[in-house]
Amino acid sequence: MPHIEKPISLELVGVTKVYPGVIALDNVSLNIRGGEVVGLIGENGAGKSTLMKVLGGTIAPDRGRIVIDGADIADLTPARAVELGIAFVHQELNPFGNLDVTANVLLGREIRKGRLGFLDGKAMEAKVSPLLEMLGTRFGPKDPVSALSLADQQLLEIARALSINVRLLILDEPTSSLTLSETQRLLDVIRRLRDDGVAILFITHRLGEVEEVADRVVGLRDGRSAGELAPAEINKDAMVRLMIGRDVSQFYETSGQAAGEIVLETRQLRTRTYPHEEVSLTLRGGEILGLAGLVGAGRSELARVLFGIDMPEAGTVEVLGETVPPGSVTEAIKAGICLVPEDRKSEGLFLDFSIAENISVPSLGSLSRHGFVDRDAELVLAKEARREFSIKAPKLERPAGELSGGNQQKIVLAKWLATRPKIIILDEPTRGIDVGAKAEVYHLMRLLAAQGAALLMISSDMEEVIGVSSRVMVMSRGRMTGVLQRHELSEENILRIAVE
Ligand SMILES: Nc1ncnc2c1ncn2[C@@H]1O[C@H](COP(=O)(O)OP(=O)(O)OP(=O)(O)O)[C@@H](O)[C@H]1O
Ligand SMILES: [Mg+2]
Repeated sequence: MPHIEKPISLELVGVTKVYPGVIALDNVSLNIRGGEVVGLIGENGAGKSTLMKVLGGTIAPDRGRIVIDGADIADLTPARAVELGIAFVHQELNPFGNLDVTANVLLGREIRKGRLGFLDGKAMEAKVSPLLEMLGTRFGPKDPVSALSLADQQLLEIARALSINVRLLILDEPTSSLTLSETQRLLDVIRRLRDDGVAILFITHRLGEVEEVADRVVGLRDGRSAGELAPAEINKDAMVRLMIGRDVSQFYETSGQAAGEIVLETRQLRTRTYPHEEVSLTLRGGEILGLAGLVGAGRSELARVLFGIDMPEAGTVEVLGETVPPGSVTEAIKAGICLVPEDRKSEGLFLDFSIAENISVPSLGSLSRHGFVDRDAELVLAKEARREFSIKAPKLERPAGELSGGNQQKIVLAKWLATRPKIIILDEPTRGIDVGAKAEVYHLMRLLAAQGAALLMISSDMEEVIGVSSRVMVMSRGRMTGVLQRHELSEENILRIAVE
């Protein structure tokens, strides 16, 4: 990465953006300069992504000025933003599945050769390869994007941002699906870019990362500037106060719940990803079983088999002693199993449907009369969920796609939990959720467990696994490598068996 010739100086002055019913940004001012990392924090719906979209030229503010290198930029377009060296990594990923990695990274900026302008594949690959190397990706420049996991897609987005002459890099929740080692590598890349004179605006709910990498922290609350923290003031408590204006007490409650009878049991279960490994697992009513492991350990694959999305290679799943017919989501739901998936966009949410419709989908059986959905009952259910999860949405009739990322995640949780299932599988349940809402989600999980539900929580967030689980199973390369009881839970103990 060459040293930046002309570091950016950017200033936002009194920026306001209004959506129907919501003031997403209310008179926000912010400045950032080349050579510094600014952490941008705030609750779900505080306006962080909106601010980023203003800087990237994808939405025009209703009021306010954008001043770059001393000049007022009246109508910033995405193309102009790229010219000015502004690159961003979106919170919601949108790769083009039918292209390979190189084509995705250089989409719209392909390198051509000759008079006919054919694509210069060699040159393109030569440009992309070093970026992938720097990020330490497991995939190569020629791999099809359709084969990439969520974490890989996130790294692809980052490679794309780095492929322009970047002077300001904006990262919106870049680590939400990354593991420990990938995250560390990204933080290293961020530090390196900063030392080269790039300005970095880092948006995340993982406050530990902000603590590690930010030179300055800016808080947003309900669309307004909530203040700043200087380097010496950056710590978790101060950040939480900046975001929500108070302390979050009782973040993790200890479980006083005695585990009940076995509700779910697998026998010689094998997934297609790891056809030679058997998974034997028991899940009891009233417990929250944490499922830890590194990415690629086979946890999501196991979840998909348990929920009937995928056919198992062999073996059975039993609920209360009865075998659940394999490979059928309908049968799994009938048996009382539900899955809150990791990838909300493709598996959890209908973005064009209203918020209320999304929440009611799995409950339609109980909400319908003579085949018609009782819209009033649907709205009552949705209102209850909005209160229970503090979902920030002015109107429940609006499309779910208009919600902020974290609020979309809350809808996915609400929709399944409204059915009060016996067995709840949660795959990374708090991805992209702010600290306050996290505490609410954990509280709700405990409540469901106390009511007798059995919860299986897949999580890469070590603090969460340790803080929430009554017991932890660790998986590595498709195999259960160990079980830890609550009093044995520590980061070292989990990591030790996770790498076996
Ligand atoms: N296209 C849109 N139409 C209507 N309202 C919108 C639209 N995009 C965002 N909003 C609203 O603007 C507010 C700010 O949203 P934004 O996505 O900026 O939040 P955020 O801080 O990024 O939250 P998160 O942490 O959940 O990602 C929210 O109330 C959201 O519902
Ligand atoms: Mg956002």
